[in-house]
Amino acid sequence: SAPLRIALAGLGTVGIGVIRLLQANRDLVTTRAGRPLEIVSVSARDRTLDRGVDLSPYAWEEDMTAMAARDDVDVVVELVGGSDGPALTLARNAIAANKHFVTANKAMIAHHGLALAHASEAHGTALKFEAAVAGGIPVVKGLREGAAANAIEQIYGILNGTANYILSTMEASGADFATTLKDAQALGYAEADPTFDIEGVDAAHKLSILAAISFGAKVDFDAVACEGISRVRAADIAQADVLGYVIRLIGWADVAEIESGAPALLQQVKPCLVPKGHPLAHVTGATNAVVAEGNFSGRLLFQGAGAGDGPTASAVVADLIDIARGEAGNPFSVPTSELIAMEPAESGER
Ligand code: HSE
Repeated sequence: SAPLRIALAGLGTVGIGVIRLLQANRDLVTTRAGRPLEIVSVSARDRTLDRGVDLSPYAWEEDMTAMAARDDVDVVVELVGGSDGPALTLARNAIAANKHFVTANKAMIAHHGLALAHASEAHGTALKFEAAVAGGIPVVKGLREGAAANAIEQIYGILNGTANYILSTMEASGADFATTLKDAQALGYAEADPTFDIEGVDAAHKLSILAAISFGAKVDFDAVACEGISRVRAADIAQADVLGYVIRLIGWADVAEIESGAPALLQQVKPCLVPKGHPLAHVTGATNAVVAEGNFSGRLLFQGAGAGDGPTASAVVADLIDIARGEAGNPFSVPTSELIAMEPAESGER
C-alpha cells in the first residue's frame, strides 16, 4: 500500500538514529506498519555537517518550519528541541496543515502539549510523543494502552539519566558532586550546560506529561515542585547508606482529595531516600525507570535507556508505525475536553 511519507526536522543524534533504524529494520518495520515508512524530506540548522549518513535520497528543506506545507508529506517528525522557537512553529504549522506530528520534545509537550493536542483533535490528526518521556522506554504506550483499564494510584520514577548517573556514581566512588558532574560531561552524558538535568527541570517536564496521562489531568508543568541534585553531598549519600537507603532523583505524582473534596494533583521532583530493597535503588548509571501502581495491575516497572540515539529513535519509529496503521488515539488518553484542571497539591499538606 501507499507509503507513509515523512518530513524529518532535526538531524542530531536522534534524527540520524531514526534514519539508521529505518534503514536497518526496513523490512520488519514495513511488515508491522502494513506499509513502507518513507522519509521524503529532511531539515536541520547546518546542511554542511558530515553526519555519517547519506542524505542525498531526501529533499533538503532550508526553512524547517515550512516542511509542513509540502503536499508530499503525511507526517512531520520534530527532533529539534526547545520548548518554543522553530520546534513550536513547526508543530503548529504541521497540525494546521493537517499533518500528523511526532516529537521527542519533552519541554514543548510539557509547556504546550495541551494546546497542541487540542489543535490536532480539531484537525483530526495524530499527535505522538513516546520519545519525549524516558527515551526508549515505551511508558506512554504502556500507560495509555497496557494499563488503560486501571486507575493509576501513583506514578513515580527516575526520569533523568544524567542525574542518576551522577548520584549512582557518587555512591560507588565516594566522589563529590562537582567532580562527578565533570566526569559525566567528559563521558557525554551531561550537556555543557547541564542545568536542566541537575536542577530537575528535565525530569519535571517528563513527570508533568506522565501525570497528565495517568490521572486525566491537564498538563501543568508550572505546578511541579522541583529540586535538583546540586546540593547533594558525598556525606549525604554515605549517611543514607548507613541507614539502609540510597539517594535518587525521583519524580513523583499522585492525586489526593483536598478539603473542598476536589482532586488535587501532587507533582514533585526531588532527591529522595530510596530503601535499598526497592527496585529503584538498583537503577544505576544513565538509566531511567518508571513505576506505575495500577489498581488492578498492581505495580508495573518500566526500565531502560532514557536517552541516546537507538533507544530514542526506537520510540519515534514506534509512533510512526502507529500512525501508519491508523492508530491515532488521544495524546493524553482521553479527549482534551475531558482533561481536568486539578488544583496543585503541596507536599507539605499531605
Ligand atoms: N538529558 C536527559 C537525561 C535525556 O539525562 O536523561 C533527555 O531528556
